[in-house]
Amino acid sequence: MLTIREHKQNGEKISMLTAYDFSTARIFDEAGVDMLLVGDSLGMTMLGYEDTIPVTMKDMIHHTRAVSRGAKQAMVVADMPFMSYQTSESETLRNAGRLMKEGRAHAVKLEGGAVVAKQIRAITDASIPVVAHIGLTPQSVHALGGFKVQGKDEEAARRLLEDARAVEQAGAFAVVLECVPARLAGLITEMLSIPTIGIGAGAACDGQVLVYQDMLGMFSGFKPKFVKQYADVGGVMRDAVAAYCEDVRKGEFPGEEHSFTISEETMAKLRGGLQ
Ligand code: KIV
Repeated sequence: MLTIREHKQNGEKISMLTAYDFSTARIFDEAGVDMLLVGDSLGMTMLGYEDTIPVTMKDMIHHTRAVSRGAKQAMVVADMPFMSYQTSESETLRNAGRLMKEGRAHAVKLEGGAVVAKQIRAITDASIPVVAHIGLTPQSVHALGGFKVQGKDEEAARRLLEDARAVEQAGAFAVVLECVPARLAGLITEMLSIPTIGIGAGAACDGQVLVYQDMLGMFSGFKPKFVKQYADVGGVMRDAVAAYCEDVRKGEFPGEEHSFTISEETMAKLRGGLQ
């Protein structure tokens, strides 16, 4: 597999998708995705929270381990959850190390620009590859005043450019740009030598990432503008489960072909023993 940096050098786009468990990771890996992100979005997609704030290190390690077992060729990136890298350098290193050692991730991702440059430097100095994440950073949703496009006015756009430079200089090998105007994301992509991976950041980014439940139609609630739905897996699952329930209720499942046999002779002896 080409390294992620080589993709940018060769002008080849990078595909990334979230994954949170073994069987899904295996399917996505077989389909040829370059990077699997064990996003802390699992708090919402898998655990049913309203945002990513409650996600713990224990949750992240548990899911990362499962994804790592399913990934044969894709690079596995694990999100550092809220408050796992904000308190001290030693805590940051300990938590990044746990995602690698216990979760078996290949890299970690953390949210923030210049304000987390020190943490990115410390983690990369410990030989742990880091993906940065700027723009809309869901762990700061309350500070940002909601899930909104970032960098729309000049001042905010300049801050994003500074954040992008800061995370590259700190040693990140790639950066996720979330909900950033497409032309600004294009400018950041031109400016950086590391790849940009966009989500709601237009086509000029070096790669794209989506939350898989969004692109497979497994969430019936809000669908962000930037999501392209590739399949109605939620609909397929609902129909299949409804058909199963009906079969069970009517006694039509299991059929003979789903059942195991025993010899007539043995049954006769057992029946005889009951009389
Ligand atoms: O947690 C996540 O799924 C993410 C993506 C939205 C990039 O960080």
